[in-house]
Amino acid sequence: MTVGIGLAGLGRIGRVHARNLRGRCAEAHLACVYDADTAAAQEVAAAFEVPWVATFAELLDRCAAVAIASPTATHAPLTIEAAAAGVPVFCEKPLSLDRDAALAAVEACEQAGVALQVGFHRRFDPDWVAAAERIAAGELGQVQLFRTSLRDMDPPNPAFLAHSGGFFADVTVHDLDVARWLCGEVAEVSAHGAAADPAFAANDDIDTAVVVLRFASGALGVIDNSRSARYGYECSTEVMGTLATARIDNPHPRGLEWRTPGAATRGFARDFEERYPFAYAAELDAFARCVRDGSPPRVTGRDAIAASDLATAATESWRSGRTVSLEVPV
Ligand SMILES: NC(=O)c1ccc[n+]([C@@H]2O[C@H](COP(=O)([O-])OP(=O)(O)OC[C@H]3O[C@@H](n4cnc5c(N)ncnc54)[C@H](O)[C@@H]3O)[C@@H](O)[C@H]2O)c1
Repeated sequence: MTVGIGLAGLGRIGRVHARNLRGRCAEAHLACVYDADTAAAQEVAAAFEVPWVATFAELLDRCAAVAIASPTATHAPLTIEAAAAGVPVFCEKPLSLDRDAALAAVEACEQAGVALQVGFHRRFDPDWVAAAERIAAGELGQVQLFRTSLRDMDPPNPAFLAHSGGFFADVTVHDLDVARWLCGEVAEVSAHGAAADPAFAANDDIDTAVVVLRFASGALGVIDNSRSARYGYECSTEVMGTLATARIDNPHPRGLEWRTPGAATRGFARDFEERYPFAYAAELDAFARCVRDGSPPRVTGRDAIAASDLATAATESWRSGRTVSLEVPV
């Protein structure tokens, strides 16, 4: 019996989740959809042949668990409403741009005894999972260096950017979560940012960043991020240890490589959905298992707050030009 998920928010990532729940997930199915924009709800309901509802409260009535993929500012209030109704929550990242609101959402779920899983999909990609298991088993020895890149091909639309929370909270937060997951807590953050596109500078934001981490273990890390790499969507990670090095490179969506003297071409993924054909489905399957058997989610609300704290530290470092030291996370 698969778990019926109600999906709230049917934009870019919401439709990725709808496609996975409809076609790829083995343990969860799309039970019902809701969007503040009724036309979007009707369109997705027709396309996926599922019912739609006009309010979040109705959605909660019609599902065993809910997936929240609406804009960031709505995550905490919708999570709290779901918790009050006793409905387990999968919520897109970040939980909130306001730390107190994020904590209130986490505590509401803890007090109601409902699962809360946050959408850091890379924790469910088979390559990252295999690397994480071997690192945790000690096969890499002592971690010395962490390196990761996340570069979008094109920036999202300006309406999204206005409410994104800024580059570090929206983009780098994925890498900060992976850093904690693979290498443990971060003690220091130093961040540099630049706006190659003046539209970002005009919004007091950036589109390119390098973040240097010092882990509590003494290991070092470096993250590079871009909003507009142009050539494609790129995401790769490397962890170097005393016994081994794990490197997760970019799979190429097409096998054809055209080689001419001095040059060879290979395609890159265009976006996050193409880069992660398994991870987005696997995170919802894992959430469904938590709903069914009551086991704790692999990536919790407190993990999300810890990653956001690091993003806040990176923003502070970028603005002040100083290294920021961190307290022990929540
Ligand atoms: N994990 C990932 O890889 C990933 C990728 C993209 C976006 N995200 C996150 O997902 C969230 C949504 O991003 P997006 O790019 O899909 O945004 P989007 O603007 O494309 O879509 C948002 C949708 O939510 C709807 N909406 C607005 N208010 C609502 C409400 N109160 N209740 C229900 N629906 C509402 C809008 O009408 C729209 O259809 C953001 O928090 C973003 O950070 C995560």
